[in-house]
Amino acid sequence: ALVTTTEMFKKALNSDYAIGAFNVNNMEIIQGIVDAGQAENAPLILQVSAGARKYAKPVYLVKLVEAAVEDTGVDLALHLDHGADFEICKSCVDGGFTSVMYDGSKHPFEENIRITKQVVEYAHAHGVVVEAELGKLSGVEDAVHVDAREASFTVPEEAAEFVEKTGVDSLAVAIGTSHGAYKFKGTPYLDFERLKTIHSLIPDTPLVLHGASTVMKEFVDRCNEYGGDIPGAQGVPEDMIREAVKHGVCKVNIDTDLRLAMTAEVRRVLVENPAEFDPRKYLGPGRDAITRMVRHKIKDVLNATNRR
Ligand code: G3H
Ligand code: 13P
Ligand code: NA
Ligand code: ZN
Repeated sequence: ALVTTTEMFKKALNSDYAIGAFNVNNMEIIQGIVDAGQAENAPLILQVSAGARKYAKPVYLVKLVEAAVEDTGVDLALHLDHGADFEICKSCVDGGFTSVMYDGSKHPFEENIRITKQVVEYAHAHGVVVEAELGKLSGVEDAVHVDAREASFTVPEEAAEFVEKTGVDSLAVAIGTSHGAYKFKGTPYLDFERLKTIHSLIPDTPLVLHGASTVMKEFVDRCNEYGGDIPGAQGVPEDMIREAVKHGVCKVNIDTDLRLAMTAEVRRVLVENPAEFDPRKYLGPGRDAITRMVRHKIKDVLNATNRR
């Protein structure tokens, strides 16, 4: 069935594992991820961004996810990723999602609290859970000065006040990750002391790590080997994810690694089989590549095998 993340997070919170939250926007990606979750007997969150919703049209994504549940019998949470305002959160609550993120991180603290509270009120009244975000994820281009970057990190005392005032179910924190394939220029760095402090102040609140793709070298290399041009890509090392899940991080967001795994395989198949033009012949291998990658994440990085 489609379930909320409440039970998943309750079990993960004080254990050394986390739930993978994978971004979806088409059938092959959904099937690739769900097959991996089923094979590993792992809890799963499928998440949809505003862009993905627009690309696939909302009803298609919901029906595809419902089909995945019906076909496999697995329990999944269907989550809105980075909802920008109350309206999109409401629309997803009304449309069958079990979880929504309201991302008010661009707003001043009080405004973020005000809108998050409004989303929480509506969502909870409809049996849906809410993730919010405090602090800003900064990309490589923003990180001119280390000080400037750290100024955007989540302030632990604010996190405690925010959770208290909003009643939010989970909280995304900024500790040095960013979205996309270019997370660090030099040595990767995450502020684990800050994460531990946040977790100690709000020990009952599941924390969320956005921008958690590793930008796996094998996929970047394969893309580049078969005609791609993705120089200097760098993500969060796997050991840092393994560490984060021990300190309150219950949800680990992964999109970029899905994109890279699928694209690397599609590129390889097309280059090696130039006469091929049946989409099933490259999307099928792309889907299988996603399954292998997600199984690796679940088993070797998130430690979530057999946690269902
Ligand atoms: O948070 C970013 C996710 O990777 C979704 O990306 O907005 O391009 O769908 P998107
Ligand atoms: P990545 O770009 O690191 O995969 O992060 C995805 C994410 O945080 C989606 O919300
Ligand atoms: Na955990
Ligand atoms: Zn994100």
